[in-house]
This record gives sequence, C-alpha cells and structure tokens, in this order.
Amino acid sequence: MSDGPIDLRTDVPHSARMYDYFLGGKDNYQADRDAAEKALQEFPAVRVTARTNRDFMRHATRYLAGQGIRQFLDIGTGIPTEPNLHQVAQELAPESRVVYADNDPIVLSHARARLLSTRAGRTAYIDADAAHPESILAAPELRDTLDLSQPVAVSLMALLHFVPGDVYEVVNTLIESLAPGSYLAMSHVTTDFDEGDDDPDGMARLLQVYIDRGIPVRPRTRAEVARFFERLELVDPGVEVIHRWRNEGIEHPRSHDKQVSLYGAIGKKV
Ligand SMILES: C[S@@+](CC[C@H](N)C(=O)[O-])C[C@H]1O[C@@H](n2cnc3c(N)ncnc32)[C@H](O)[C@@H]1O
Repeated sequence: MSDGPIDLRTDVPHSARMYDYFLGGKDNYQADRDAAEKALQEFPAVRVTARTNRDFMRHATRYLAGQGIRQFLDIGTGIPTEPNLHQVAQELAPESRVVYADNDPIVLSHARARLLSTRAGRTAYIDADAAHPESILAAPELRDTLDLSQPVAVSLMALLHFVPGDVYEVVNTLIESLAPGSYLAMSHVTTDFDEGDDDPDGMARLLQVYIDRGIPVRPRTRAEVARFFERLELVDPGVEVIHRWRNEGIEHPRSHDKQVSLYGAIGKKV
C-alpha cells in the first residue's frame, strides 16, 4: 500500500461517500451530497436501505464469529462507520484478524487513520480493485495477516453490484483460494420489488442516479444472487431480503422489502 498523497476527486460523486451521507456521516463532499439528495428524491427509503445493510453486515459478522470464524476478508469496506466489522468480530473474539480491501481513495485515507489493529487481534488494509481478486489474495498485507490454510469469511456487502465484468468469476476465484470451512457472506441490490408497488421502478430510478454520474451499478434477481453460492452450502434461510435473514439482530425488521431491496446470503465451503 502506498503512503503517498491521495487524490480524493471531491468534484465527482463516489458511491462510498454517498453511502456515508445516507448513513448520516460527515465524510462526504458537495458533489456526493447533491447526488445523494437526487437519490433521496427518486427513492426516499434509501436511508433505510443503507442502515439495514450496515445492520446486516454486523449481524452476519456475529453469526460467522459464532461459527468459530476468526479470520475475515472484507472487500468493499466503505468509509468507517462504527462499529466496523473488526470491532464486531473482536468484541466476540479478540484474537480475530481482519483484512479490509477497497479501491476508493477516501475509504483508503480514513482506513489508514481509523481501522487500527487491537492488541490481541490484527487489522490490515489493502488498496485494491475487487475486479482483480488475485491481487487481493497475493497482497503482502493479506498474507501477513490471514492464514489461508485455515477458514476465512469473505464479506462482500453491497459491493458486487458496483463491480463491472464477470463477477461470478471474481467470486469463484475467491472461493477457490479458501480452505474448507470458510464462508462467503454477501448483500446485493435488486430491483425485484419494483414491480407491483405503488411507486414502480423506484429502485431502478435510484440506480440510474448513480449510472448518470458515471458510477456503474447492476442489480440482480434472487436467482442471479443464488448463482454466486452454487459451489457452497447455503446457510438457512438461503438468499433472503436482508431484514428477513435470521432477523433477530436487525434493527429495522419491519421495513418493507421494497425499502430494503437488498438480498443477503451466507454460504459455507464444505
Ligand atoms: C455501498 S458501500 C458498502 C460498504 C460496506 N461494505 C457496507 O456494507 O457497509 C460500497 C463500497 O464498495 C467499494 N467499491 C466499489 N467498487 C469497488 C471495487 N471495484 N473494488 C473495491 N471496492 C469497491 C466502494 O468504494 C464502497 O466503499
């Protein structure tokens, strides 16, 4: 990871900073706020979507720690919003080791400052593009922090819809590198609930706000999300809207599926 100056490109909106704005964070600029306000006009529930996604990340992390997982690879980390994944994992098991990876310069600058290792566990950060998983897997920061001969949970929360190219190949490359007993946890945006609603196409219009600003985004159906898990054993209840996935840990269980519009799932490599 280079420690040189970072060009934050504050003149154009970034998905990570728009997400930070939806979550009530302060790590965003005027271009991000303008785009996020347009997104709120098109899909007023987007703050619920973002908060529920963050809840699901923590919920999934607690589930994985409960299964004995002590190593995490979180790709598409986002701007730190407490508690972050390493804090959730290390609260349950202080020795947990977490590697974060993101390709956004502002995420990188905040991660350098705030995603710090604890005494017992370890946390590392990689500046990398999810479209090239081999570069993540080969990164010295990962090799120094995680032991790939032991189970690892790979966390891809609200990431893959932003990644262009063959994302099934990306996921399969990651899965192939993992030891048996490892997990894949994911959330992914969908427009499945746009139909039959009193605001048809609301999520599609939200996604168009990103596309119009040069941020490619691709929703997937439930079946398309399930395809990511073909080589894994899906944890019950399988691919589900995230506020329904074992929702005892989710703070917004009464949201409508349309407001959430994210599928989530966890699969185990056996
Ligand atoms: C909506 S945020 C999700 C943050 C966090 N995973 C969560 O669920 O709260 C999406 C994140 O994915 C990152 N991202 C988008 N495309 C990426 C890529 N090709 N490689 C790595 N990270 C990417 C963005 O920078 C952003 O931080």
